[in-house]
Amino acid sequence: YIFYTLKGLKALEEQLKEILNIKKVIISPNSSGDDPFVYKDMGKTASKCINSIIKNDSIIGLTGGTSIYQVVMEYKNSRDIEKYKNVTIIPARGGLGKEVEYQANTLVQNLANKLGCNYKTLYTPDFLSKGTIDSLLKEPSIKSIIELIEHIDILVFGIGRADKMAKRRGLKNDEIQSLISKGAVSEAFGYYFNENGEIVHEISTIGIKLETFKKIENLIAVAGGSEKAEAIASISKLNKNLTLICDESVAKKIILKY
Ligand code: G3H
Repeated sequence: YIFYTLKGLKALEEQLKEILNIKKVIISPNSSGDDPFVYKDMGKTASKCINSIIKNDSIIGLTGGTSIYQVVMEYKNSRDIEKYKNVTIIPARGGLGKEVEYQANTLVQNLANKLGCNYKTLYTPDFLSKGTIDSLLKEPSIKSIIELIEHIDILVFGIGRADKMAKRRGLKNDEIQSLISKGAVSEAFGYYFNENGEIVHEISTIGIKLETFKKIENLIAVAGGSEKAEAIASISKLNKNLTLICDESVAKKIILKY
């Protein structure tokens, strides 16, 4: 029975990879729609995935959110602590969400502690004026982290629904409506995209640019729950190097829909 289930999942992974036209799909099985254990399992998978590609001088970028939180929680280091001492972990962009434990900066510190490696944080508000961004970019400490962001070789990021993320980021109802009427279905690293993966809106803050994202070789997205089907399909259009770690419910929904 287990053999059959695993075989079934493998077939599902292949099918989804074809549909989304990305590098790899790894699916965590779930029996019910909203199964908390599935997020732990996705976190474990992502942790293994990081270990399989990390090099001794990697620059790893992380975003915030509950999915990446699970990745960091589940991360298991190899026993050789010396091995990663030249690795650097950084947030993919600035940000000060309401819940500190899910902020990229917090996750960066926690993962760096597990790896025994370097890290840098970027504490800047979510919404900055153009003038503030320009002057911040002249600050040496900010400049150095922006340079590192340009050289991220592994990005581990969450994918959100546009409407939910807009709400979470405290946008007003009319702003949320305006995003939706412009066709926004997904959000990742501060950008909102439509179903074709085109930018609808960009948060005015400091961090990774879409052009940089499009060039990254190792992209690991962690996203589960059937309500994220459109969001995942939209983000998959941005860079074919994507490895998607998702759950069975959203995998089936995408396959049915696309
Ligand atoms: O940008 C999208 C978010 O990182 C997704 O957050 O993992 O809590 O759903 P989540």
